[in-house]
Amino acid sequence: MEDAIGMERIKVGVLGGTGMVGQRFIQLLDRHPWFEVAEVAASERSAGRPYEEVMEGRWKLDSDIPPLVAQLQVKECTPDLDCRLVFSALDANVAGPIEEEFAQAGYVVSSNSRNHRMDPDVPLLIPEVNPDHLEVIPIQRRRWTRGGYIITNPNCSTIGLVMPLAPLHKKFGVAKVIVTTLQALSGAGYPGVASLDIIDNVIPFIGGEEAKMEAEPLKILGRLEEGRFVSAELKVSASCTRVSVRDGHLESVSVELNQKASSEDLIETWEEFDPLAGYELPSAPSPPIVVRREDDRPQPRMDRDEGRGMACVVGRVRECPILDYKFFVLSHNTIRGAAGAAILNAEYLYKKGYLS
Ligand SMILES: NC(=O)c1ccc[n+]([C@@H]2O[C@H](COP(=O)([O-])OP(=O)(O)OC[C@H]3O[C@@H](n4cnc5c(N)ncnc54)[C@H](OP(=O)(O)O)[C@@H]3O)[C@@H](O)[C@H]2O)c1
Repeated sequence: MEDAIGMERIKVGVLGGTGMVGQRFIQLLDRHPWFEVAEVAASERSAGRPYEEVMEGRWKLDSDIPPLVAQLQVKECTPDLDCRLVFSALDANVAGPIEEEFAQAGYVVSSNSRNHRMDPDVPLLIPEVNPDHLEVIPIQRRRWTRGGYIITNPNCSTIGLVMPLAPLHKKFGVAKVIVTTLQALSGAGYPGVASLDIIDNVIPFIGGEEAKMEAEPLKILGRLEEGRFVSAELKVSASCTRVSVRDGHLESVSVELNQKASSEDLIETWEEFDPLAGYELPSAPSPPIVVRREDDRPQPRMDRDEGRGMACVVGRVRECPILDYKFFVLSHNTIRGAAGAAILNAEYLYKKGYLS
């Protein structure tokens, strides 16, 4: 199908299209100028019925299911879908081998799942931060026979952390980071955490999350040297909590810098950061980092939709008596932290000719 300006849109599929992140993909891809959802796939429990029927009682977003997707038959996650690109929002228990099957069959896989993020030949991409990491794709393609490959986006709390760290690291060098997260309920999928466990409560544990937050930034901020990822030399210590917020992960961050800087230098660095300006990617926020100067921002309910959920909002920048500076950052976990990030990654691939 063509868009309003007559461009033939690229057919895409959504693996795990029935989950929390999967439905975000369907919502964000509605009327996308370059991509058109042609296939939705999930487990055999959902396969064989129209998407609208499968999602009865499960669609949790404010907008309605887009009519063209509502009619699609949900398929199983086998690599015989009529599309070139698949977004993966699969449960991590099954994502690993399914994504490999698709790459092997020649599909481009833009994945949200953790399974392949740390593979030595898979980019863990934030287009504003490490676009050069795509240069590892030709190496990965040697693993598959039909030209497919996998790219991944970071964990939903990693992305909120790395966005403000990246320009600081480039300009001043970041040596140490201590981060405590206050993570939203939608990050746990649906039905997620039982209401009786989370109302009037904070849960100081999210399985596997702290390890991801401590490892992923080192790969993303690291260098690609002769086809090998070299980790950035910084240390991250993370503590992750689940709080009673629907969407939007808030993080309290302290950083030690290698070079002296004032708090105004930090703010100026963030406000100048807009590396995708001029690329005209439909999902790219401009600017990607918004700095709030009020004492009581960012807040999940007020700030998570900044930049259509794709911007990170930083606030309360102040001196830290132990490290150098501390601040809060907020990012929308199912948009910038999941579906929106994978779509932006695919837009960047398209712009750079990796989808042809
Ligand atoms: N929620 C977030 O904020 C967030 C952020 C970043 C990354 N992620 C990652 O994104 C992925 C999806 O998360 P979610 O929160 O959307 O989970 P979810 O709501 O539990 O959805 C999981 C999806 O995987 C499908 N699935 C489960 N078992 C399957 C199987 N054996 N074969 C094929 N499909 C199967 C489900 O299909 P059925 O409906 O048919 O069961 C559903 O579509 C996870 O890897 C998660 O770690 C989530």
